[in-house]
Amino acid sequence: MPSIPVPSIPSTLPGVELITSPRRGIAQVVLVAPGAGPAPQATPGERVAVRPIDGSPLPDEWLPAAPLTGRPGEVHQVRAGRGVPRWLLGVGRALDGGPAEPKQWRIAGAALVRAVDSDIAARTEAGVRAPKSVQLGLPHEVTTECVAAFVLGVRLGGYRFTVSETSVPASTRSVLLVCQEDRVDAWRDAADKAGELAAATALARDLANTPSNVKNPDWLARTAERICSGIPGLTSVIRGGDWLRAQRFGGVLAVGGGSQSPPRLIELSYRPRGATQHLLLVGKGITFDTGGISIKPAAGMHLMRTDMSGGAAVIAAMRAIGGRKLPVRVTALVPAAENHVSGSAYRPGDVLRHYGGRTSEIGNTDAEGRIVLADALAYGVERFSPDVVVDVATLTGAMKIALGLRTGGLFASSEELAQRLCSAGARVGEAWWPMPLLDAHADALRSDIADVKQTPNGPGGITAALFLREFTDGLPWVHLDIAGPARAEKTYDEVTPGGTGFAARTLVEFAASYA
Ligand code: BES
Ligand code: ZN
Ligand code: ZN
Repeated sequence: MPSIPVPSIPSTLPGVELITSPRRGIAQVVLVAPGAGPAPQATPGERVAVRPIDGSPLPDEWLPAAPLTGRPGEVHQVRAGRGVPRWLLGVGRALDGGPAEPKQWRIAGAALVRAVDSDIAARTEAGVRAPKSVQLGLPHEVTTECVAAFVLGVRLGGYRFTVSETSVPASTRSVLLVCQEDRVDAWRDAADKAGELAAATALARDLANTPSNVKNPDWLARTAERICSGIPGLTSVIRGGDWLRAQRFGGVLAVGGGSQSPPRLIELSYRPRGATQHLLLVGKGITFDTGGISIKPAAGMHLMRTDMSGGAAVIAAMRAIGGRKLPVRVTALVPAAENHVSGSAYRPGDVLRHYGGRTSEIGNTDAEGRIVLADALAYGVERFSPDVVVDVATLTGAMKIALGLRTGGLFASSEELAQRLCSAGARVGEAWWPMPLLDAHADALRSDIADVKQTPNGPGGITAALFLREFTDGLPWVHLDIAGPARAEKTYDEVTPGGTGFAARTLVEFAASYA
């Protein structure tokens, strides 16, 4: 295969530094918001009092040409005299008129790096010096949650993934946060954690965005192994065809059987001393999904290079969990396969034997995710007897229709688990919506000739979840369907088009909740 100039993984992100006095010669960013009090009801044309959030006055010569609203993510470059540029950055206000909330800070951070990135590009193009760092003063009363959210936005907002022989354009190097001495420790800790979460998201994006002519199951496995190496307590084992056949992983072998690139099972183990809880994470690792014999329509098929986004989130989360030395044992399994069409592909009507012996009757080879996950779940549950199981997958188009592109579907074996996962997501800026495991549809799983039917009639996201439940042995379990939010079509908040890395941060935060 000719080699393709893919970016090195993990890609580099802007740095964030906490300092206690401003540095000379570095562009300054002034944070602004609509004046305090209830949200002003501005009519078009009416001027709203927008002020720096540190209470300082806004000199007239700083006012941008365009009207200033102070909404989160509004950015203006203003030049007061000669010298380095100054920026005004809106952070907005909470709906009740209170100070800006974390989500607004995340939006502001992302907008700032995008603006600085385009400024760097424009100056580079014009052949003039392009300052690559900016600094901003953070008022004392900003909460640590808001600082963390801002860091997340800064690190992710300018994310890019391009496959090109020409060198990548320069981008923001660092954002310096100027704060008072007594805030340094708390904010640095929050900024470091948020920085790690952002790195996990970016790594999951890198893996998802890598094209499938590079990313076959073996590439995914080797890359996971490489990026997890060197982290104390984190080990990886990659299983290939012989092992999978010996262990009778009938689902993974069937789904991967139509491809020239054989399947793999990626196993990552993080075993810190003294851990009492053991989490099992399972991620769908379909490196490309043609649909198989039940082939997908051409329109949109190219997007299926991100069908391993669940696996990517799991791999990236493991690296962050190990990197942060969380005191909880975590095992990750990513069944990786390419769902292709050929004379050796599996067929509708086939009956497969999963790891552990349960059989399933295939109705549609495009429902391959649940087939590889069934093997991995059955194996993980039997081999490790974990305390909690979480699986993550771009599983059903139905979930994309139900919840759209910004919210993940969550199915859980208990209310308490659903709540724990939802709040972990909320803390790191990922939205999940609880979905029901409706018993009324459980009967549809029964098959005349096998133990379970792969594609039961009924609501697609729910029946897929019910199918997976058959392989969890009644353990506490959460199933995350990220078919919607794993990809973005356009830029919004801290999200960039392509793979979004969705779920990686939630998994890290969820693991931390057991520490
Ligand atoms: N990878 C797809 C699900 C998907 C669709 C993810 C769109 C992201 C965007 C999955 O393998 C699939 O094709 N599922 C089928 C299942 C059906 C045949 C029962 C689906 O949802 O249509
Ligand atoms: Zn499919
Ligand atoms: Zn798929």
